[in-house]
Amino acid sequence: MSNRSQQWHGTTLVNDIAWGDNGKGRIIDYLASDADLVIRWAGGPNAGHTVNNERGEFKFHLMPSGIFEATCILADTVAVDPDILIAEMDSLQKRGVTVSEKNLMISPDITMILDWHKRRDNLNEVARGGSAIGTTGKGMGPLYADRAERTGIQIHHLYSSDFEERLLREFTWQTRLARLMGGERLLSELSANEFAHMSREQFMKMAKKALSDSPYDFEDMLQRLYRARDRFKPMVCDVIPVIWDAFDNGKNILGEGAQGALLDIDLGTTPFVTSSHPTRGGFSIATGIYDIDNVYGATRAYTARVGGGPFPTELTDSIGDHLVEVGKEYGTTTGRRRRCGWFDAVISRFGARIAGATEVAITKLDVLDELDEVKICTGYEVGRTHYGVGQIPSVKPRFLSQAKPVYETMAGWQEPTSGARSFEDLPDDAQKYVLRIQELLDTNVKFVSVGPQREEMFSM
Ligand code: IMP
Ligand code: MG
Repeated sequence: MSNRSQQWHGTTLVNDIAWGDNGKGRIIDYLASDADLVIRWAGGPNAGHTVNNERGEFKFHLMPSGIFEATCILADTVAVDPDILIAEMDSLQKRGVTVSEKNLMISPDITMILDWHKRRDNLNEVARGGSAIGTTGKGMGPLYADRAERTGIQIHHLYSSDFEERLLREFTWQTRLARLMGGERLLSELSANEFAHMSREQFMKMAKKALSDSPYDFEDMLQRLYRARDRFKPMVCDVIPVIWDAFDNGKNILGEGAQGALLDIDLGTTPFVTSSHPTRGGFSIATGIYDIDNVYGATRAYTARVGGGPFPTELTDSIGDHLVEVGKEYGTTTGRRRRCGWFDAVISRFGARIAGATEVAITKLDVLDELDEVKICTGYEVGRTHYGVGQIPSVKPRFLSQAKPVYETMAGWQEPTSGARSFEDLPDDAQKYVLRIQELLDTNVKFVSVGPQREEMFSM
């Protein structure tokens, strides 16, 4: 690569230490010129990564944000919705960036999100009634459930001779499942075991029925998948040897996180989480690489989340509205208004640890510019017990929903920061704010951003 800035070496990840949308896309874009490989491992089209560079603004869901600078990989654990990936390839092409086998490799072991995953995602949310997770509706939960069930259609299936037959089987089963979820008593007709072992004649009878009465359109799906098969073909390759070869030869590998550590299915704020591992551990699971040099943990200068679940520092007053409007806090993927609040150092420290962060990146500092004072949550009160940073027992709703934030108030700086190109350029009170976050997280601040453009971020 010609335009290296030599900011980092080895294997570096960019993770989000909270509930997502903390500016990973722009940090990746900033770091990618030093990368030989950029690897995406978590989530799928539920992600929304915004990149602003000299070519303009780009919003990606599946395409790695490193696509402008390096060779990118979609690892096995990414959930690919083929229509969305193709649409992103097309829109990049229209803007002069060609996506081909030269800059994108797609693992054949990826499981694809198909129409039924989205439908089941929405049906599940309806079934949860008042306690919906507030998913993005992109099919994540059902996709990863199928993967854990060891079922589903993977990218390599597109290239096998029995693909059409496999799709028909899946279609038939999913059609029955949809009718079942809609309240029909079908399972008593035939057990899953009988379904698996039925004769071809029996199966064809059932498939015929499904084809004539399904919420899904078999022919349409088949055509879309054929299009994906042809489009992806040059890019599909076994990615593990490529990753290990790069690692063994001392190449620079950048892991592009998605979502946020607090959305981890196990260690996050379960059940208000996503269905994958947006953490350092998740990267290792997807790549077999355990030796990681840096993990930059992204956080805004305040805290936000989208979807359901407890959020101790949420502001529902005019300051909350100010953060939403100035910070343009509307979801990249769903357009939903994000819930915003003061910086929560307690949950962020917990999240930084799950993320495996070695350093943090504070984004959107400029969003606080106009406030006359700023608050940081430095502890929770639960009943009569006080918990400081590093002391909470859990981030699950049973604990978090009872936590009352304890704030420390600091002076606002009330000056624009977007022109700052170094820490020293920041107003004194903004410097103090950044240093206080660093202290509370017990992790060095590596980057600060003061605006969406590439040049509006500096390293410390
Ligand atoms: P799902 O991943 O669509 O199942 O959504 C589960 C929860 O994770 C919901 O609260 C979503 O709003 C949240 N979520 C999923 N992906 C992202 C993301 O990329 N950024 C922020 N929140 C996300
Ligand atoms: Mg996002």
